[in-house]
Amino acid sequence: MSTLDPSSSTPSLESKNWAPDSWQQKPTLQQPNYDDPQALAIATRTLAELPPLVTSWEVEKLKSHLAEVAEGQRFLLQGGDCSESFADCRSELIAGKLKILLQMSLVLIHGCKKPVIRVGRFAGQYAKPRSNDMETRDGLSLPSYRGDIVNSNGFTEADRRPNPELLLRGYERAAMTLNFIRSLIDGGFADLHHPEYWDLAFMRHSEKQAEYERLVESIGESIRFLEVVSGGHLGEVDRVEFYTSHEGLLLQYEQAQTRRVPRRTGWYNLTTHLPWIGDRTRNLDGGHIEYFRGIENPVGVKVGPKITPSELVQLIETLNPTNSPGKIVLIHRFGTRKIVEHLPALIEAVERGRLSVVWCCDPMHGNTEVVDGGYKTRQFRNILSELEQAFDVHRQCGSYLGGVHFELTGEDVTECTGGARNLSPADLGRAYRTQVDPRLNCEQALEMAMLVAQRMRTV
Ligand code: PEP
Ligand code: CO
Repeated sequence: MSTLDPSSSTPSLESKNWAPDSWQQKPTLQQPNYDDPQALAIATRTLAELPPLVTSWEVEKLKSHLAEVAEGQRFLLQGGDCSESFADCRSELIAGKLKILLQMSLVLIHGCKKPVIRVGRFAGQYAKPRSNDMETRDGLSLPSYRGDIVNSNGFTEADRRPNPELLLRGYERAAMTLNFIRSLIDGGFADLHHPEYWDLAFMRHSEKQAEYERLVESIGESIRFLEVVSGGHLGEVDRVEFYTSHEGLLLQYEQAQTRRVPRRTGWYNLTTHLPWIGDRTRNLDGGHIEYFRGIENPVGVKVGPKITPSELVQLIETLNPTNSPGKIVLIHRFGTRKIVEHLPALIEAVERGRLSVVWCCDPMHGNTEVVDGGYKTRQFRNILSELEQAFDVHRQCGSYLGGVHFELTGEDVTECTGGARNLSPADLGRAYRTQVDPRLNCEQALEMAMLVAQRMRTV
């Protein structure tokens, strides 16, 4: 009896002329200039020999869940810091991020009546794209800060020198972060049996207080009811699945942990479950698309106002030539004033090509502004408005908005304005901690999830 080769429908990578380092033959944007090639070679060789952070079966499981999102049967929640910092690799901060994502997911499950896949922007979100290669202050020009895995945020020559050793320091911190998250989840940290213990003091400031209280009460009731009916403890509530993601920007890092695994075909990036390509590095002829077209992981692609429908179709066909469901997550980020102008044509092109994708809305990156005092911020109402428009546009176009993508933290920071406590630009200085983009604080994040959940009940 002949056995079917599971890879027979996929063009072989040899025929695709791909290797983990083939991106090096292409122009590759947003890479640091390491000045010591030998030190870089030693660091990447060392990195390649370390055990992986995730496994191929977790990656495949996420891909199959994402295929169900594409079919409209699940919902995706992705969130975390804009940029993780090495200093923030601390237990209370990691636990706080995990907790807010779990709480949001429960609220969303209640709203959309579907299982929610939770994906953190963490355990590797250390490299950032920058608008300029150099930064000048008082006549001194130094390389821009590109995230803790590349250089440091201080403004001296030593701080800003890209240091290949940091690739290893980043990988170690990613491992510690993930190790802690896995233990918390295994230990039943996510006790969502008692939503009444959630800190909802901020609701006192909201006109929707009564509605929120009913929602929290009814989540508690639903859990208790299901447990009575099923005669046991509801596993999904205290043993949840959690996946990691980061922008696959620094290709030396991604390449080093891209490997074959026993009994599977293809190459896996084992630094994370869901790497994504940023809006600035998704050019078709560049190194990032070259790297990403060869890996088996599901791949996120950020798309902003500059992409054209035909470019998007080419991008999807390059990254997913077999049109496998669950492979591509299109994360659109236009800004509240641009989404209606740009999104419909992209949806139409994807539908016309019968391309299978997960549509996910990032309402953060198109809504960044700088206010007096020089703070980079985002207004809660603009974030919410882009999301609401995303639900409307997808409904009108007959597509399914399958996910949301937030920059958020479990801490009580003041980086975005608005929300139930109505933070103003004058409040920003109080606890502005982000090194790059402004995040929703824990109250704003939970409030956002509640508003999205209410919205989904009516979609
Ligand atoms: C980000 O997600 O932090 C980011 C830089 O996004 P984008 O690529 O959408 O600009
Ligand atoms: Co960001």
